[in-house]
Amino acid sequence: MLPLPLVPFPADVDVADAPAFDLSRAGLRGDPDAATALRSTVAARTGIDLPDGDAISLAVQDGGPAESYTLEVETTGIRITGADAAGLFYGVQTLGQLVRRDGERWVVPAVRIADAPRFAYRGVMLDVARHFHAVDTVTAYIDRAASLKFNVLHLHLSDDQGWRLELRSRPELTERASATAVDGAPGGFYTRDDYRAIVAYAASRHMTVVPEFDMPGHTHAVALAYPEIAEAPVTDVITEGAIPVAGEPYTGTAVGFSSLRVHDDATYAFVRDVFAELAELTPGPWLHFGGDESHGTTPEDFAHFVARASTVIADLGKTPIAWHEAGAAAGLAPGTIGQYWGFVTPTDAAPEHARAFAQRGGRVILSPADAIYLDMKPTDDAPLGLTWANGPTSLERAYSWEPTEVVDGLPEDAILGIEAPLWTETVASLADIDALAFPRIAAAAEIAWSAPAGSERTWGSFRARVGGLGPLWTSLGIRFPAVAEVTWTT
Ligand code: ACM
Repeated sequence: MLPLPLVPFPADVDVADAPAFDLSRAGLRGDPDAATALRSTVAARTGIDLPDGDAISLAVQDGGPAESYTLEVETTGIRITGADAAGLFYGVQTLGQLVRRDGERWVVPAVRIADAPRFAYRGVMLDVARHFHAVDTVTAYIDRAASLKFNVLHLHLSDDQGWRLELRSRPELTERASATAVDGAPGGFYTRDDYRAIVAYAASRHMTVVPEFDMPGHTHAVALAYPEIAEAPVTDVITEGAIPVAGEPYTGTAVGFSSLRVHDDATYAFVRDVFAELAELTPGPWLHFGGDESHGTTPEDFAHFVARASTVIADLGKTPIAWHEAGAAAGLAPGTIGQYWGFVTPTDAAPEHARAFAQRGGRVILSPADAIYLDMKPTDDAPLGLTWANGPTSLERAYSWEPTEVVDGLPEDAILGIEAPLWTETVASLADIDALAFPRIAAAAEIAWSAPAGSERTWGSFRARVGGLGPLWTSLGIRFPAVAEVTWTT
């Protein structure tokens, strides 16, 4: 028999030898938010509009680890108990994956599940700078990620190609630097209300937004608004495509050519303004200041900038996050979180930089680029995606790595969690997002959530379980590619 189509696989699953629960006779009671979430998934999957009733009960009951839940399916009833609202929501997601057709009926197999996450931080990142993605695309991606028990949405809100968040303190950013995107695609930006709406929608799916303004590099767009705080583009790092020109929008995809001026007070007035307003708009604990690929900045200047920018954020009462390069800065604010984007088997100084965050009281988010950069091509002939991170990246490669084995000397308790970034040089629409993110996002979800031991934590089990999710994903409108590594249930 095929394993139950559960991804990420729960901590404890006990299949009972009893007839399945018949959904067509079910009524629902309990926590209203969880009831809404369950009604929506069941309606999408089966067309059944669950009435009020007693057969399915949904409740929060204190006790147990954060985000944990139990799900008991018996022939006559279903009970989901969450240790908190997030746990209850995750129990509902698990139940949604179990719904299946049996002849003319929709049923749920009899099973007892007790579940809790391995890592506290389970993120996806969407780059809205290279291509802008409207609010409804972002909320659709939130739904997709939350259904796989991700709890963080990292928004990459600025890059050389555009600045995507309206700020009252610095209106010139979106007035002068948001209209364009890669290859002449239309740009765009979020108003403050749009951003608040995204944050609120994410919170309703138990996701925290981590906003990023990338600096001191990746700042060509900032220079369109404030040329006085930017260095001239370093054009000798450009190996192909258009050469960036100061004062003109950049629509290519090269990296590493731009930098803020590191020794000017006006630069830090800018840093303070943009992060103070971002802090005011962001209820979550983290603000990301980038710090990657600052090839236009000397190591000394980079270290100087990182020390000051991370301190600005810490002084705002938020925890700074930066890409791993910032670990090279001795003056990094204590407690800063590092985001590792080296390879599963490191090829450069990335591990040393990542360890530096832990040595300064911070922790590390793992985003190994050759495993869970969702923007890598999945196959050689895929129309979308890049290949620089040892791509194409198969589903098997996305699944086959263990977080504690990537950076030597970084034990499990120094790892805050896992994040799967989706850079959008080639990604312009929700259909493009689906085509690259799925099904590899499911691999990242399982690595972030599921304990490493256990009989189902194998590639063979995972690929079978993912295949069983095809009908659910289709009913939710997800246009996933039916990659040949998986046998898809139809
Ligand atoms: C990165 O991929 N530049 C973080």
